Amino acid sequence: MRTQVAIIGAGPSGLLLGQLLHNAGIDNVIIERQTGEYVLGRIRAGVLEQGMVDLLRQAGVSQRMDAEGLVHAGFELALDDRQVHIDLKGLTGGKTVMVYGQTEVTRDLMDAREAVGAQTHYSASNVQPHDMKTDTPYVTFDKEGESWRLDCDYIAGCDGFHGVARQSIPSDVLKIFERVYPFGWLGVLADTPPVNDELVYARHERGFALCSQRSASRSRYYLQVPAGEKVEDWSDQRFWDELKTRLPTALAERLVTGPSLEKSIAPLRSFVVEPMQYGRLFLLGDAAHIVPPTGAKGLNLAASDVSTLFTMLCKVYTEGRTDLLERYSEVCLRRIWKAERFSWWMTSMLHRFPDSDGFSQRITDSELAYFVDSEAGRTTIAENYVGLPYEAIE
Ligand code: APR
Ligand code: PHB
Repeated sequence: MRTQVAIIGAGPSGLLLGQLLHNAGIDNVIIERQTGEYVLGRIRAGVLEQGMVDLLRQAGVSQRMDAEGLVHAGFELALDDRQVHIDLKGLTGGKTVMVYGQTEVTRDLMDAREAVGAQTHYSASNVQPHDMKTDTPYVTFDKEGESWRLDCDYIAGCDGFHGVARQSIPSDVLKIFERVYPFGWLGVLADTPPVNDELVYARHERGFALCSQRSASRSRYYLQVPAGEKVEDWSDQRFWDELKTRLPTALAERLVTGPSLEKSIAPLRSFVVEPMQYGRLFLLGDAAHIVPPTGAKGLNLAASDVSTLFTMLCKVYTEGRTDLLERYSEVCLRRIWKAERFSWWMTSMLHRFPDSDGFSQRITDSELAYFVDSEAGRTTIAENYVGLPYEAIE
């Protein structure tokens, strides 16, 4: 088999890149370890920056998002019993975010890919990129008992944090930057009306809580829990009781509870690998970086990597601008590190750290108070939350 771009992984990064390339007449094949149903079963993020919304529109997959997605012009910070409104639209000159689940984005991209008949190999095992430092890279994999070889010009590693792409780069080439937090997020999805029109990020002495949503009748809630906590120890009742404790009274009284449709715990981590390129292999999305979810940046960073590689590859194929590819990593990393900083900061401000002493606690309290009481501070939060601009590629 031969293609122009071999894409490893059918998560949002791989599918979005594949759709944009296909529309631009650049042939691509996706190789995915799991089945499509398995990929769609994962409940992940839900807030899209304007840049990602625009990219989905450009890819021609925005019809359902534009009809069903919820445009949010602000969010609430709940600091014990105090509520502070972050007016995203007012503070950023009109920018907003779109609340639309990653699962739905993935489904729309899968449907669009199927509709145009682009090739995806699901349930592929032993996926392995080869000869990335030569002009003739290729990917091998096994499927239904047969071995396959896919020759290509470029390989896009869109295979997430545990994927093979990053691991196939020699370790002495890579620098890893990492911070693991001493807590995770316990998430619950429920068919109950959201407690508030806008998202609520709540800081409380018992730990952080987040009230998010998927639609007018489906809510997504999270609680900070200690690292190593077991989901089996959290009955629905315990979850709702704890959530109520951490919310301001006015919100807690309005909370509608119900049976959980999904309940899971995700660890919190900051992670960046440098560089994001090795010869003709490029890393995108979670394969190259992880942010704690507090800033709603994970999916959006995947989209900005896709935008960067897509723009460069278009210029490579139409204008012969192969020089641009050498800048892929530095262009991506400039934006990634800013989002890493914001995600780390939101996490540090809003969570309870088990080893924090009285002094650190007071410093955090006053840093947060300074930010929310100052228009400049709120603007900084808003500007980062709606998403920093994509860099022009000339
Ligand atoms: N071979 C082929 N596919 C693989 C391999 C492998 N060795 N390892 C992993 N994959 C697949 C996974 O099964 C998954 O479907 O790669 C895909 C990676 O998808 P995601 O983990 O969703 O990563 P990405 O597409 O970069 O999505 C951006 O940002 O913060 C997050 O929630 C956000 O998951 C989202 C991500
Ligand atoms: C979500 O809806 O899953 C969600 C929203 C905002 C975040 C993180 C997760 O910051």
